[in-house]
Amino acid sequence: MSDRRPQEAAAARIRIDVAHNARVWNYWLGGEDHYPVDRAVGDRVTGMYPGIGEVARADRAFLGRVVRHLAGDVGTDQFLDIGTGLPTADNTHEIAQHTAPHARVVYVDNDPIVLAHARVLLSGSLEGATEYVDADVHAPERILKAARHTLDLGRPVAVMMLGILNFVLDTEEARSIVRTLMAAVPSGSHLALTHPTLELGGEGNEAAMRFWNENATPPITARNRAEFASFLDGLELLEPGIVPCSRWRTNPREPEVAQFGAVGRKP
Ligand SMILES: C[S@@+](CC[C@H](N)C(=O)[O-])C[C@H]1O[C@@H](n2cnc3c(N)ncnc32)[C@H](O)[C@@H]1O
Repeated sequence: MSDRRPQEAAAARIRIDVAHNARVWNYWLGGEDHYPVDRAVGDRVTGMYPGIGEVARADRAFLGRVVRHLAGDVGTDQFLDIGTGLPTADNTHEIAQHTAPHARVVYVDNDPIVLAHARVLLSGSLEGATEYVDADVHAPERILKAARHTLDLGRPVAVMMLGILNFVLDTEEARSIVRTLMAAVPSGSHLALTHPTLELGGEGNEAAMRFWNENATPPITARNRAEFASFLDGLELLEPGIVPCSRWRTNPREPEVAQFGAVGRKP
């Protein structure tokens, strides 16, 4: 990714007439990489579902706790972060390399704006490595092939899929993607997941998602607890299991958000 051309080509692919998830998520997180169309849709969604900003912040805080735990307590030094989003305050490689400077991180997203900003994601430590792959989560084999350039898939990997399986609308296909990814990594690897749900709090969430699907891209779906749990089949759930991501390994009195979070270990 030292070549500038992929970023320039990405910039040419950016559409500013329709709201994109990566940019609206950045808007909700208080970032600066969004267009008027993203802010307009983001504000309408917030009007219908005022908890959405809290969901986004809780999701990022969950990412931080997971990466700190895996890099610090477990000793994981390889991360495959699919559905990365735009660079923000604490990106996976910064948290991981803070604890383990030799950590290697591969980021994957398919939004051209994320590719256009990817350089920020590639400024890792000298001892470690970061790479960015412009790929679609629907093509896990392609992701694995690209990841092998940076990660040793013979050693444990943390596969991070935060807020991304909700863009794979078919649940069986989403399960199959997870199975393919986790089959390619050895025992001692982890899968970290977050996913929106209509089962928790979330007044107005359903109307907001319908509005999103009519006005923005890519389309999204919510899942119930049983569907979320099925993505972790065959893995050992780390404590405290499946919880609102705001309550994973933090104060149990944290407000509940309508976003499940969990981490599973491959036995
Ligand atoms: C809700 S954001 C989550 C970002 C980050 N993982 C986090 O938790 O803060 C979802 C990200 O998934 C990306 N995404 C959506 N559909 C995708 C697809 N089919 N393939 C790859 N990335 C996708 C979007 O571009 C966006 O950056």
